[in-house]
Order: sequence, then C-alpha cells, then structure tokens
Amino acid sequence: MNTATTAIAATSAATIAATSAATADARREADVPEQMQAVVGEQYGTADVLEVRTVEVPTPAADEVLVRVAAAGVDRGVWHLMTGLPYAVRLAGYGIRRPKQPILGLDLAGTVVATGADVTDFTVGDEVYGIGNGTFADYAVAKATKLAHRPDHITAEQAATLAISGGTATQALFDIGAAEAGQRVLVLGASGGVGSFVVQLAHAHGLHVTGVASAAKADYVTELGADVVLDYRTDDFTDEQPFDLIIDIGGRNRVSKLRSALTRTGTLVIVGGEDGGKVTGGTGRQLRAMLRSPFVSQRMTTFVSDETAAKRTALHELVADGRITAPVDRTYPLDRAADALHDLEVGNLRGKAVITIGGRS
Ligand SMILES: NC(=O)c1ccc[n+]([C@@H]2O[C@H](COP(=O)([O-])OP(=O)(O)OC[C@H]3O[C@@H](n4cnc5c(N)ncnc54)[C@H](OP(=O)(O)O)[C@@H]3O)[C@@H](O)[C@H]2O)c1
Repeated sequence: MNTATTAIAATSAATIAATSAATADARREADVPEQMQAVVGEQYGTADVLEVRTVEVPTPAADEVLVRVAAAGVDRGVWHLMTGLPYAVRLAGYGIRRPKQPILGLDLAGTVVATGADVTDFTVGDEVYGIGNGTFADYAVAKATKLAHRPDHITAEQAATLAISGGTATQALFDIGAAEAGQRVLVLGASGGVGSFVVQLAHAHGLHVTGVASAAKADYVTELGADVVLDYRTDDFTDEQPFDLIIDIGGRNRVSKLRSALTRTGTLVIVGGEDGGKVTGGTGRQLRAMLRSPFVSQRMTTFVSDETAAKRTALHELVADGRITAPVDRTYPLDRAADALHDLEVGNLRGKAVITIGGRS
C-alpha cells in the first residue's frame, strides 16, 4: 500500500469510527450513569425481604430499550414474583429457589435513554409506558413490542397503571368475553387493579354492570360506573337475574356456583383469584372451568394476558379521551415500595398503587 492509499485508508477508518460513535451516542443519552437505586428481593418472601440497593444500570438487548423510570405500577403479578407463590410461578421459569430477576416491578412509564440495535419504533427522549423488567428502579429495560408512546395529557403515574391491569381488563372483556352493549355482566373483584378497569370499560360500552367487592369499597365501585354493587361477604350474586357474562378477577367461588349465575349460553372468563393453596393457587379453578366447558351449554374460559402494546390501543385511546380514568389510588416513593406491596396484600387499595421515582412523574 503506498503512502497516499494509506492516508485515504486512515481517513476512511477515522470517518467510520466517528460515524459509529455518533450513531452509538444517538442510541444512548450521554448522562446515563453506571449505577442506580433499585428495589431488590434476593429471596422469595414477604415485603420485609425487600431492600433498596445500588446496582448496575442494565444494558438493553437488541430488541429492547432502556427507560429512565418515572412511575411503576404495582400489581398482583409483582406480589406473586416477590413471594414465589403459588409454587407454580417458580416452575414457570421465574426461579425455583430464588427469583431469577431480583429487581421487582413490571409496569412502567418513563423516558427512553437508550435503544437496542434492532429497535426502530423508539428513539432517545421518547416518553413511553408499558411492561418492562425490574421497573422498581431508576432505570429498566423493556422489549420495544411491550411499549407505547405516552400521550402528553396522560401523566406517567396514570400511564403506569395501563399495561398490566388495563390490558388484562380489555382482553378479558372484549377479546375473550366478547362483551356486547346491553348485556348483563358480573365483575367479581370490581374494586381492584384489573376490576376497576373492567367496570369502567363495561359501563362505557353500554353493559349493565354488577360489581362485587368488600363493603368498604362499594362507593368506589359505584363511582367507576357499576349499576349494582354487592358485598362478597354478605350478598349472594346467584340471587340476581342471570348474567350473560361473568368476569371473575378476585373470586373464590366454585365453578358450579359461577355457572348457576350465568344464562344458559352465558360466558365465564376467569382472570385470576387468590384462593387454592400454595401449589397451584387459583389456577386449579381455571383449569377445571376449561375442562368442563366443552360439555356444557355455557362457555367457560381463561387466558394469560398478551403483553404486547398493540393489545392496548383501544384502552389507550379511551384514557386519552378522558372516557376511562386510570385508577391511581396511592403513590409511594421507591424506598416505600414494600409498603405499597403490603397495602396490595391486605386489601388497602381502591384501584392501583404506583411507585414514583426521582420526582419524574
Ligand atoms: N390472567 C392474567 O393474565 C392475569 C393478569 C393480571 C392479573 N391476573 C390475576 O387477577 C387477579 C386480580 O388481580 P388484581 O391486580 O386486580 O388484584 P387486586 O388489585 O388485589 O384486586 C383483587 C380484587 O379481588 C377482590 N376480592 C377479594 N376477595 C374476594 C371475594 N371473596 N370475592 C370477590 N372479590 C374478592 C378485592 O376486593 P376488595 O379489595 O374490596 O376486598 C379486589 O377487588 C390476581 O389473581 C392476578 O394474579 C391475571
């Protein structure tokens, strides 16, 4: 190689290096630190096992983004992953003896600060919400497919309730339950994270809504739009006129009792429930309903929610239009995440708890 060729080659190499550095910069905000604060549970257990610790900021994979978290929703799924209960959760790949992901949190809202090589829908600086991995932290990674852009007039706190609870509610009612205006729907667990969305969505869609919750939260369920509110301790929903659709989110009732409250061709959608023991939890009931369904006139089913953002478009628009309210009950700073989980466990919440981080929401 002669001198001129060497000089050209050196210039080209310098240009390529500068270009790739600029591309890398565009993909990562300059002031992302190496370490952050996060809520960590190294062992399965109650909220007492949690600690706020300094840990490494994660690096997004090719299909992920790194989000500076402003708000993180608290839901039953986080509680299951914290406690490792029912044991079926551990067998589902989350870690047999201890959690594989020690940082808690799934729902998030925040700002994109870095993008993986294959991500095209988001750039640094975008405000997003959705489902991530270890979101009770200053920074969290999330798959781009599980994120959506956050509309300006939805706050980060509100957006942090939408993906898991709101997305599950939408799917239960419309995709799985095939709800239609004019139908009678029974919502068991109407005052909780998922239920507070189901009641609002069903009311907005023109269904007649009967909500079941504890007596202390009856007013709240009425405010959400329920036509009738029943107390699960004292009222019997089988005394009501039969329902076209039952969305069972928090119920402990036997499948046979649920069937007896349905019309002859009604639909039962079991979303969850916290009864059933340490091994399978509420899932035994769900399995029994599905096995029975082909042999009866009613349709009985369950589902695992699809976490991709595309499943939430309709809900997102209803919230942006103000027709549905994100049900934020209480907010907690990062160092009080354990209190939020405790309040969820003992039933202190109307709707949802949200962790707010770094004063960014
Ligand atoms: N299938 C899926 O993909 C999926 C997705 C999300 C959640 N889930 C499951 O859905 C369930 C609820 O989640 P969540 O986040 O909404 O929980 P949550 O916020 O804790 O709400 C639980 C609800 O259940 C009610 N409840 C308690 N005991 C009841 C009873 N005996 N009868 C009727 N209602 C009763 C509570 O009422 P009070 O507070 O008034 O006592 C509350 O409304 C959990 O089991 C969760 O794992 C499943």
